[in-house]
Amino acid sequence: MKLFQNHSPSQIQAYPAHVPDDILRFHKALPGYEPTPLISLDGIAGDLGVERLLVKDEGMRFGLKAFKGLGASYAVYRVLREQSGGRLEPEECIGEKGRELAEGITFSCATDGNHGRAVAWIAGLLGRPAVIYVPRGTVPARIDAIQSEGARVVVVDGGYDDAVRRAAEEGKDGRMVIADTAYAGYTEIPLYIQQGYLTIFREVSEQLEEKGEGSPDIIFIQAGVGAFASAAAMFFNNPSDSVHLICVEPEAADCLFQSAKAGDGMARSASSGKGTIMAGLNCETPSLTAWPAVRDRFNAFVSIEDHRAREAMRCLAAEGVVSGESGAAGLAALIALCKERPDFLSEELHLRDNARILVINTEADTDPDAYRRIVGLPGG
Ligand SMILES: Cc1ncc(COP(=O)(O)O)c(C=O)c1O
Repeated sequence: MKLFQNHSPSQIQAYPAHVPDDILRFHKALPGYEPTPLISLDGIAGDLGVERLLVKDEGMRFGLKAFKGLGASYAVYRVLREQSGGRLEPEECIGEKGRELAEGITFSCATDGNHGRAVAWIAGLLGRPAVIYVPRGTVPARIDAIQSEGARVVVVDGGYDDAVRRAAEEGKDGRMVIADTAYAGYTEIPLYIQQGYLTIFREVSEQLEEKGEGSPDIIFIQAGVGAFASAAAMFFNNPSDSVHLICVEPEAADCLFQSAKAGDGMARSASSGKGTIMAGLNCETPSLTAWPAVRDRFNAFVSIEDHRAREAMRCLAAEGVVSGESGAAGLAALIALCKERPDFLSEELHLRDNARILVINTEADTDPDAYRRIVGLPGG
């Protein structure tokens, strides 16, 4: 495990000050919407010696086994709303009006699995086709899941960045690219996707309020290109509100960690070429619109080895939570810190006796064979 601390986190500046208020309203209008469960992990908390540990289980989101439907669907809504001259209400998107606006569009994106399934799903809800680009080595189960939403899958001979480039190059002539990573000249849709993820934190706040509890004290957020992490930064945008945000990546692809450590504010690509079982986090380059928010607001960056993710998957399974390799990464980092850097938690993060720690299970068993091998049990 590696740890890098940002000693002076600040409020993020890089966003439009105005965060739209139609995000949760839009998600509530989608078929199958339900707040995902917020579960207390008492057994693991006891083992780690922490008072309160909660997991938000995104493996249950929209029946897609991952949180990504929130971002892709909101981005598609915003694009269609713009096409309508601002006259598409959230409730009208998956309906006659939305379908008319989407007519003739083929949706497209690059993915390491979950985002592509989400784009295919929202395309299907609008009655539209989708073409999804995946990197070489994407496991058949993830390709099958994308195809099960009715999309065509193209396997690119390269890594995630190559798949992003290929989707962008071929994203012409009636294609609409819904990329979750921003690059020069393509920033609007990724920003909508980042905003779509805010629903998770809205729900957490409401769920904690219902339980009569306040905000979490420490949140572990796993990152690929950093879009999801940037949503946490947007939601908890004030470092003085005392929520500590910790970014978690696999050691094999820790581009945000390396960018933070370099210390000059610039985003860097990073890949060890070793590969990782955390396929959803196996991204070489931070998203242009996500990086500044993560850089400024996050308190620490952790990169973890694969065996940590396996251990965390087994711990979550013992508490009845089905979590895939990338899904378990947040808990994996907490376990690693408790074992290797308890001083960091107690002295730097001021982990008090009654601290509330939140991890997000961002995916269920998206590779069921690997899940069975690692956990020794069938998944969901
Ligand atoms: C399961 C899972 N968790 C976390 C992430 C990280 O999201 P981001 O790429 O926005 O950092 C991904 C991305 O694909 C994912 O699939």
